[in-house]
Amino acid sequence: MASSSQEVPAAARKLEGKVAVITGGASGIGACTARLFVKHGARVVVADIQDELGASLCAELGPENSSYVHCDVSDEADVAGAVDHAVARFGGLDVMLNNAGISGEMCFSIRDGAKEELERVLAVNVVGPFLGTKHAARVMVPARRGCIISTSSLVSAVGGAGPHAYTTSKHALVGLMKNAAAELGRHGIRVNCVAPAAVATSIAPPGIGGVDVDALMEAAANLKGVGLKVDDVAAAMLFLASDDARYVSGQNLLVDGGFSVVNPSLGFFRD
Ligand SMILES: NC(=O)c1ccc[n+]([C@@H]2O[C@H](COP(=O)([O-])OP(=O)(O)OC[C@H]3O[C@@H](n4cnc5c(N)ncnc54)[C@H](O)[C@@H]3O)[C@@H](O)[C@H]2O)c1
Repeated sequence: MASSSQEVPAAARKLEGKVAVITGGASGIGACTARLFVKHGARVVVADIQDELGASLCAELGPENSSYVHCDVSDEADVAGAVDHAVARFGGLDVMLNNAGISGEMCFSIRDGAKEELERVLAVNVVGPFLGTKHAARVMVPARRGCIISTSSLVSAVGGAGPHAYTTSKHALVGLMKNAAAELGRHGIRVNCVAPAAVATSIAPPGIGGVDVDALMEAAANLKGVGLKVDDVAAAMLFLASDDARYVSGQNLLVDGGFSVVNPSLGFFRD
């Protein structure tokens, strides 16, 4: 079934006529964001290594609104190809969403940390966004406009919330984002990150670290009684991709209910 952008009235569509590439777009946060972007009038290139899932999402969204490309984000030719595909198929690139990521092993002991595992996580979570930012800039700089977003994580802002390799990768990603924002601002290009807390997807399935992710977050969260959903993360992506955020750049937008910036554990706040 072709997804219709008519669900959002024309005047309310925030990405009308825009073209986006979403890496890791076949599932989870990426797929939810692809659906929301199309509802808001964008045409989306879904770039992933899960070919069947990506193709089936694009069949759902409709060929006029979407296109799937196989893209391993750690491979420069694949990333360059995904960007070139967006330009060839839809006429340009307005939004690059570097979203593909892996959690790596749930290793919480640095003494057990394997160098190869760190390198494997960095190849996807840092090299991938580096290449995505590089090739998006190749197209966006001559156009003198564009928006680059990378999916970081709550673990980019605090220690102790994830495995060592994953936490290292997401801190590095925020550094890349800030440096790219510093360079590309003069070309009219905004560069930001969205940093979600844990939300149930295939990267964070029930049973992560032996605990259900929803139960874990409900217990640890600052904001109670809400519960983070992938739609909340997609809504943050839409905000940053749209003209609502036309003067927002260099930001790591935490979607974590305040978890990373408050610590009520001393117990001062009581009813
Ligand atoms: N789910 C969470 O709790 C959470 C929290 C914070 C940040 N994130 C970040 O959100 C992003 C999306 O993750 P998700 O939760 O939707 O998980 P997910 O596993 O559902 O989606 C990740 C997608 O990335 C793709 N991918 C993996 N390696 C790839 C590669 N080398 N090249 C191209 N695509 C690749 C996968 O095939 C998958 O479709 C990741 O960067 C992740 O680190 C997730």
